[in-house]
Amino acid sequence: MLIDVKPLANTLTEKINEKINSLGITPKLAAVTYKPDNSTVSYLKSQQKIAKKFNIDYEILELNSPESIFNVLNELSNDMHTHGIFLTHPLPEIDEMEALNSISPSKDVEGRHPYNLGMLIYGKEIFAPCTAEAVVKILEEIIEITGKNVVIIGRSSTVGKPLSIMLLRKDRSATVTVCHTRTKNLEVLTKNADIVVAAAGKANLVTKDMIKENSIVIDVGINVIDNKIVGDVSNDVSEIASVTPVPGGVGKITTLLLMGHVVKAAEIIHKNLNK
Ligand SMILES: NC(=O)c1ccc[n+]([C@@H]2O[C@H](COP(=O)([O-])OP(=O)(O)OC[C@H]3O[C@@H](n4cnc5c(N)ncnc54)[C@H](OP(=O)(O)O)[C@@H]3O)[C@@H](O)[C@H]2O)c1
Repeated sequence: MLIDVKPLANTLTEKINEKINSLGITPKLAAVTYKPDNSTVSYLKSQQKIAKKFNIDYEILELNSPESIFNVLNELSNDMHTHGIFLTHPLPEIDEMEALNSISPSKDVEGRHPYNLGMLIYGKEIFAPCTAEAVVKILEEIIEITGKNVVIIGRSSTVGKPLSIMLLRKDRSATVTVCHTRTKNLEVLTKNADIVVAAAGKANLVTKDMIKENSIVIDVGINVIDNKIVGDVSNDVSEIASVTPVPGGVGKITTLLLMGHVVKAAEIIHKNLNK
């Protein structure tokens, strides 16, 4: 069975629209990029389209040199009309950690700044990484997470690792196993899991024989095969388990959460200015 994320998407859309209407200002998201590859360019275009739907101002700043990134990020962090800053990834020739550190944590709408990632350890999801948050929100819609065995495939700083911390939070209390390329007998772990989250970026990594019947499989992967976007989970898995589709699953919720974070940042900045 495929998991339909549309009801969650509708709820998030309604909430964002309500907040924007009561805000009284136009929220603004600035995307900063350097030598963007094709997938970054198409991701920025789709962000721009969704921002427009919500009447969120959207600006793409393409840098001419890696050195200019720090000035640009500092300026945006201090600009009262910019509420959210999005830094594309990968950033060739640029130390990503240093760049992230130049963003004001209160405008870090992707939740990648060390401050916001650190707050996750204390259970505070001020700006959680959007993809990890999308997985949590999808799961919370369909299952009681507490006590479930969750296997996450992938340990990146933006998806696998923060997601494991979010699922361990006391009010969720899942038992989490995080896997990577050095994990032995991956299929034994996934076969025993109530929930599998595939975030490896490898098409068809998760096959039907690796999955327990009636379990939940969240497919985070985005891979391009024969000009088509596919996830990390093979199609036949949905014959025995509930699986999120790709496209139209985690990615859809991730983008909505990003827009929601921009509105939240605008709300916080606006309130502070009016104090
Ligand atoms: N839907 C969305 O909104 C969204 C957002 C972000 C990313 N994504 C997609 O999600 C995927 C993961 O993104 P990411 O940024 O987390 O990727 P990443 O930084 O490349 O990390 C991939 C992780 O998967 C692990 N891995 C790769 N092949 C594996 C294998 N055969 N068995 C076990 N583990 C394996 C890697 O292990 P090692 O650490 O050992 O190398 C690594 O930890 C990509 O397809 C990306 O495009 C989707």
